[in-house]
Amino acid sequence: MKNRKTSAIDPLAAEVSSLSRRFAERSLDSSYMDRTESREAYGVYYGEVSHSKGVALGEEILRRGDSSLFRKDHLRILDLGAGTGDFGLGVAESLLAAHPFSLSLHFVDRSKEALEAAVSGRGHSRLSLTVSQATLPKDRSYLSDGYDIVTMANCLAENESQLDGFADLLGEMARSILPGGLLLLVEPADRRSSRALLTLGDDLISRHLPLHLLAPCPGGRTLPCPALRRSEDWCHEDRPAVFSEGLLKTAKLVGHVKDSLKMTYLLFGRGGAPPPPSLRLVSPLHREKGLFFGDFCDGNLWWRIRLLTRNRGDLTRAFTRLHRGESVAEGEPSSLASSPPLEGRGSIDWPRERPVIRLSHPDGRPFDPMDES
Ligand SMILES: C[S@@+](CC[C@H](N)C(=O)[O-])C[C@H]1O[C@@H](n2cnc3c(N)ncnc32)[C@H](O)[C@@H]1O
Repeated sequence: MKNRKTSAIDPLAAEVSSLSRRFAERSLDSSYMDRTESREAYGVYYGEVSHSKGVALGEEILRRGDSSLFRKDHLRILDLGAGTGDFGLGVAESLLAAHPFSLSLHFVDRSKEALEAAVSGRGHSRLSLTVSQATLPKDRSYLSDGYDIVTMANCLAENESQLDGFADLLGEMARSILPGGLLLLVEPADRRSSRALLTLGDDLISRHLPLHLLAPCPGGRTLPCPALRRSEDWCHEDRPAVFSEGLLKTAKLVGHVKDSLKMTYLLFGRGGAPPPPSLRLVSPLHREKGLFFGDFCDGNLWWRIRLLTRNRGDLTRAFTRLHRGESVAEGEPSSLASSPPLEGRGSIDWPRERPVIRLSHPDGRPFDPMDES
């Protein structure tokens, strides 16, 4: 049922409110994208957010992907669960802006109406769009000789009872991803969606596919994902973003806060360099009387790291400026721990004499030493 107050004010906000509630409750029927009202509301509101995520992750692909990929004349992208196409188009936009190649983008979705909306008036001279209507994970009629990039955004959350089937599908896809190619999986940032994606990611890693994890985890990531060791944990991004006035107005009516890109993602590559060992901040940086603290992942364990205010000095000041998703250099956090980790968690008091070296931003951009001044 739509919220009556929102509905009286604005039909778009009412539809978004209803979609949002049904996404969260997992109570959406499988034909919601076939209905004009919900499809259009999805496209206008969630489509803009998905497009921004696609653009941001497309830029990240440019940074983290194997350089051989970007020397090609033509790239083939497959977008699974494409909906109104905005995510895949965002990725394509970033790639096309950086390189002169042409791109073909193939959308797959169970909804014929969504696919029509995805391609309607959106191709251009360097971008060709094609579609397959298919129900995942069983229907694989769209599989072909090979894609350079396979993406799937916000689709698993509607298929959580079929994680094994999706792992089989993506495992098969992964083997046909062309050398230098990438697999990009993105889901909402809530605990349930995030854990489903991380579980799927572990399944893919355990299959020894010709792919390795490029982001967001620190190099040397082991199984299980450290966020899956305890049922209350999950791992997500929260990156600053700017949205249109129209979207902000709807968000306000619906009661959403839209000031950042919130998502859980995994980027696998058939080529490209895995990130170096590091400690990645996977929580906000908290400040309390007498200390700063946050949870950091080294790819194997989570560490609760505190910097006591009395240990803040020239070498450690950078700790107090960290944001979620940033990485600091530290190959062996256990050497800093005062006691062995318990239940997959360690704790560290960062010493005053150990420099805090910020390695990279959440999207993999290296820190400019000038940022530290
Ligand atoms: C939340 S939308 C995401 C659309 C787009 N990827 C984005 O991020 O904005 C999920 C899409 O996946 C499609 N979908 C969900 N489950 C599917 C399945 N089992 N097979 C094919 N399509 C599916 C839905 O029809 C819908 O268009």
